[in-house]
Order: sequence, then C-alpha cells, then structure tokens
Amino acid sequence: MIGQKIQEALNDHVTNELYSANLYLAMSAYCESRSFKGFARWLRVQYFEEIEHSQKMLDYLVARGGAPAVGAVPAPPREFGTILEVFDKVLEHERHVTQTIDELYRACVSERDSATQVFLQWFVAEQVEEEAAVQEIVDKLKMVGDRSSAALYLDKEYGKRTRAGVAGT
Ligand SMILES: [Fe+2]
Ligand SMILES: [Fe+2]
Repeated sequence: MIGQKIQEALNDHVTNELYSANLYLAMSAYCESRSFKGFARWLRVQYFEEIEHSQKMLDYLVARGGAPAVGAVPAPPREFGTILEVFDKVLEHERHVTQTIDELYRACVSERDSATQVFLQWFVAEQVEEEAAVQEIVDKLKMVGDRSSAALYLDKEYGKRTRAGVAGT
C-alpha cells in the first residue's frame, strides 16, 4: 500500500495535470480566436494528453490502494500575447512541470517507494519529449519572425497533429 505522503503528492499532481489541460484548452481557444487554427488544433490535442496524464496518475493511485482526490483547478489566464509568446509560455509551463515531477521522484526516493519511482519514469521521459517538441515550435517561430506567410505555413504544418477525441481529426 502506498504511503500517505506520496499519496498526497500524487493527488496534488493530478490537479497540476488538470491545470496544464485547462491552460492548453484556453490557449487553444485563444489561437482559434486569432485564426491560428493549426496551432489551436495542436494545443487541443495537448489538452487531451494532459487529461490522460491526470487519469494515469489516478489509476495508479487506486491500483496501489490509495485514496484518490481531485482538487480545485485554478483558472488559467485569458490573454497570451503573440503566437510566439503563447508557445514561450507553454515551454515555461512544461519546464515547471518537469521540476514538479523531479520533486515527486525525489520524494519517492526518500520515502523508499520504489514502485512509484518506476511509475514516474514514464512521466520523466514524457517531459523530455514535451519540452523538446515545444522548444522546436518556439525555435521555428523565432526563425519566422515577422514573416506572416511563414507563420501561416507553420500553423498549417502543426495543425496536422491528430488524436482520438479531437473533433475533425
Ligand atoms: Fe502532463
Ligand atoms: Fe505537458
């Protein structure tokens, strides 16, 4: 059975994942409202991924005999600036999530919870992928600068991202 301290840390992280989901849903709608429909689609897929992360964590907690809890999720911002600023904020947020996962992992080491360490390895690897994917978008948007035709090309390219559950994909 899972210890109290790790249970609480995992439950807190469920709320963090749901915040990430809502942040990306808000950013997706913001991009849509600015006619960046491709980036809106990309962020909508990301929203679903974050929901899945929260479910994965809850499922694990229950499998280990823990008491699942879903906390209150703070509202994300409404304004995100330019398209480059949107993705700069995504990168900043993902770096913050990576730190949170690292702290969670370290807590499992000090609590000698090896099963949760193994479980969290998936999240550690996922954060490497997410940061790299977002860093690439930020780099490309920086290359594009003020050239709107190039920005629209990127919008179209990133709009090809698909996932079950996203309408029209
Ligand atoms: Fe996540
Ligand atoms: Fe993420």
